[in-house]
Formats: sequence, structure tokens, C-alpha cells
Amino acid sequence: MSAVRTVVRGGLVVTAADEMHADVLIEDGRVVALAATGSDTAASWTDARVIDASQKYVIPGGVDGHTHMEMPFGGTFAADTFETGTRAAAWGGTTTIVDFAIQTVGHSLREGLDAWYAKADGNCAIDYGFHMIVSDVNDDTLKEMDLLVSEGVTSFKQFMAYPGVFYSDDGQILRAMQRAGENGGLIMMHAENGIAIDVLVEQALARGETDPRYHGEVRKALLESEATHRAIKLAQVAGAPLYVVHVSAQEAVAELARARDEGLPVFGETCPQYLFLSTDNLAEPDFEGAKYVCSTPLRPKEHQAALWRGLRTNDLQVVSTDHCPFCFTGQKELGRGDFSKIPNGMPGVENRMDLLHQAVVDRHITRRRWIEIACATPARMFGLYPKKGTIAPGADADLVIYDPHAEQTISAATHHMNVDYSAYEGKRLTGRVETVLSRGEPVITEREFTGRAGHGTYTPRGTCQYLN
Ligand code: URP
Ligand code: ZN
Ligand code: ZN
Ligand code: ZN
Repeated sequence: MSAVRTVVRGGLVVTAADEMHADVLIEDGRVVALAATGSDTAASWTDARVIDASQKYVIPGGVDGHTHMEMPFGGTFAADTFETGTRAAAWGGTTTIVDFAIQTVGHSLREGLDAWYAKADGNCAIDYGFHMIVSDVNDDTLKEMDLLVSEGVTSFKQFMAYPGVFYSDDGQILRAMQRAGENGGLIMMHAENGIAIDVLVEQALARGETDPRYHGEVRKALLESEATHRAIKLAQVAGAPLYVVHVSAQEAVAELARARDEGLPVFGETCPQYLFLSTDNLAEPDFEGAKYVCSTPLRPKEHQAALWRGLRTNDLQVVSTDHCPFCFTGQKELGRGDFSKIPNGMPGVENRMDLLHQAVVDRHITRRRWIEIACATPARMFGLYPKKGTIAPGADADLVIYDPHAEQTISAATHHMNVDYSAYEGKRLTGRVETVLSRGEPVITEREFTGRAGHGTYTPRGTCQYLN
């Protein structure tokens, strides 16, 4: 095959490490060189397709380490398929997702993982990998964890919530952590005390408290921080690293900060919904609050400052979406009259890069920190770096041409996620994705979708790159 050469000219290249006015040369899907714009080297790249990036940023494609396409939950399925969800991700400047394959109780990890390979195969617009949700810890499962690590599924989610569904007790968690400590895997924890929460749910419903806002009230911040603390101690006992997903409570951030101050290999992720939304949204009238039901739940606004601070101090390292969309009509509505029946999850895979750019505009974080928390660190955390998450010779040419001055208004009328509402309806943002390359192929070209289902390939992962 003859070399396909592309040069992205004249943009401000922003990575987690550097900012420079540089041209980027791409050959056969990979970055081969960067050279200062206007330099003799850059000028010598003549026989290439040119993408003009002047006045724009050139950033690595986003790496969203937490999505749930087609996830079965509460008797229904997340509304984005791998096809629609990865297309929407591309629209939003994300070029890699790591989704969660699910082991159901009584079945093997292998069966769950194979089912997810089949769902995604041939359907994705961008590259993807898998984590494994471990719902049934037993001797066979523990052995399978070793095999999965060796085939590139190097992280395992466990739940301290959802008794009877995904829940693991402390003994099961400890055993899985011990195994991960031995085989190099990373345990990702849903840290909420689900046993206590279920008691509070029952009591709330008995009092007639059925509206969506009670979802936030029963899933208390204290029950997140208690579980976070317990997960940290169990990981310490097991001698294993720990990654806490979807952190929303300031008390949980404090637990992570304390553990990190002690030098423990403990990491934390938060999500845009916790940074930009609050219990005010859960309290919206006419059951509209159901749109914002996810777990961990949205918190009172006061928690947001601790999350931003954690992102600045590196007590939180990653912003993922936990994209798990359910339509308002027909899906969220399953919980009318009983908030506990509202499917848990929110859409957002298309909005993450833009919302975090707005955080740069609003001076919560720097431009390089934006790229660090949304691209570079998730790539390193999940063993994909430097193939993904940066712009450097040898890296996949997953690039976004980003217009930092364009204005946009988020709306379900214009988004590309397969869901009938936006959690950020009417929110005005500065900055917008213009063009997206996935391994050098334009998948978004000046705000037209030019990709295709099946371009995205399964990407096996190495182990967490923060441990050695
Ligand atoms: O509410 C949420 N977060 N739904 C997705 C599943 C999970 O716990 O991450
Ligand atoms: Zn089976
Ligand atoms: Zn979770
Ligand atoms: Zn999730």
C-alpha cells in the first residue's frame, strides 16, 4: 500500500506536556513527525494532503475510559448502540472509548466478554477496548482474570452497590483485589454502600417519597465516602492498586486525597455531570429530574468546588463520561411513582471534551490539564499510551482540530447521541470540534460525519502505566 500522507498545518498543538505552533505529519495512520510551523522541515512536507488548522488547536483525540453502550439495566438497555454511541463520541472529539463488558451471575467472564466483542465488532466509528464487570467472584472467575489481563482486558469493575445484581461483598472484593495485585490488573470500584442504600430506599418509598430527587437523598455522600474508605483499605490489605469510578462527593475526594498522601496507588475519576450539574437538576418538576438519575448521584452544588480542586491537585486524575443514556420517554419513565425503578445513567459521551474546554475558558483548569485529564491520563491509566492520548511520533494519528473561539449551544435537537434529551439543554459553550482524525482517517470533516461503522477497531490494552 502506498503511504497516505497528511499534514495538519498551522495549529497550536496542545498535549498534556507541551503547547507549540507546529505542523503534524501523518503517514499510514500514525504521527511520524512534528515540526515548527514555517520551519524548513515543515515546508519540505509537500506531497501530502493538507488540513489547515490555523487559529485552531490540534489536540489528541479524547479517551473516554468509562462508557456503557447497549448496557442492560433495570429491564431495559442503554439507548446508544456501539454504532450510534461511537459516532456521537467522534462528533464530540473522542477517538477511543473503553466500555464495560458484563459478567452476569452464574456465568463466566469469557461469556460476558465474548458477548461484548460481538456487540461492538464491525459497528464502531472509533477505536475501543473493554473493561470487565465482575459480578460473580469465585475460583473460576479469579483464574479467568489472569487470562483476560493477558488478552488486553486489564481492568475489572466491582460494585459495592446494587445488591442482587452486580454487588460484591467485602470478601469477594478482597479476593478479586488480591488477584489483580498478582496479575497486574486494575480494580475499578463503584464505591457506594448499596446494602445501606437499599434500606434507605425502602424507608423512603414507605414514606411516599417517590420522586426522582429522593434518589439523591438516599444515596448519601456519607455512604459514598464510607465505601470509598473501605475500598481503599481493602486494596491496601490486598496490596493492589485501586481506581474509584464516578466520584461525586467531596468527602470521597478527601478519602482519595488522604490515601494518596500516604503514598497508596489509589486513583479517582469524576464525570462532567458532577462538575456541571447538581441536586437542583434532580429536583426539576414533572418528573424531569429523572433525566439526571445516575449513581453515584448528583450532589448539592457545594461539592463541585472540591471536585475541581481535586482535578487541579491531582487527587482526581481522570474525567470520563459514564455515558449510559436512557430515553426520557419509555425508559426513564419506568420509574414514575418509584424513583428506584428509574434506569440509572446519563448521556454525555459527545459533550465531555467541550464541557472540559469550557472549564479551561472558566479557568477551573489549564489547557494542558484539559488534555491530561481527558486524553493522556486515561490512556496511561488503561494501558493505551502513547498509542493513544498524545501527539508524538509513533502515536496513532487520532487528532482533533478544535476551534477554541466557536460558540455553540448544547441541545438534543442537534446532538448525535441516540437519546431524546440532553442533560445540558441550552447550555452555551465556547469551543467546538471541527475535524477529527481516527488513525489518520477523517471521521468528522469540518462538522460533517465522514467516518463509518467498522472503521473503529478493538484495541487490546496493556496494564496501568502508573504502577511501575
Ligand atoms: O448510573 C450509572 N452510573 N449507570 C451506569 C452504571 C454504573 O454504575 O456505572
Ligand atoms: Zn454460562
Ligand atoms: Zn458505577
Ligand atoms: Zn458506569
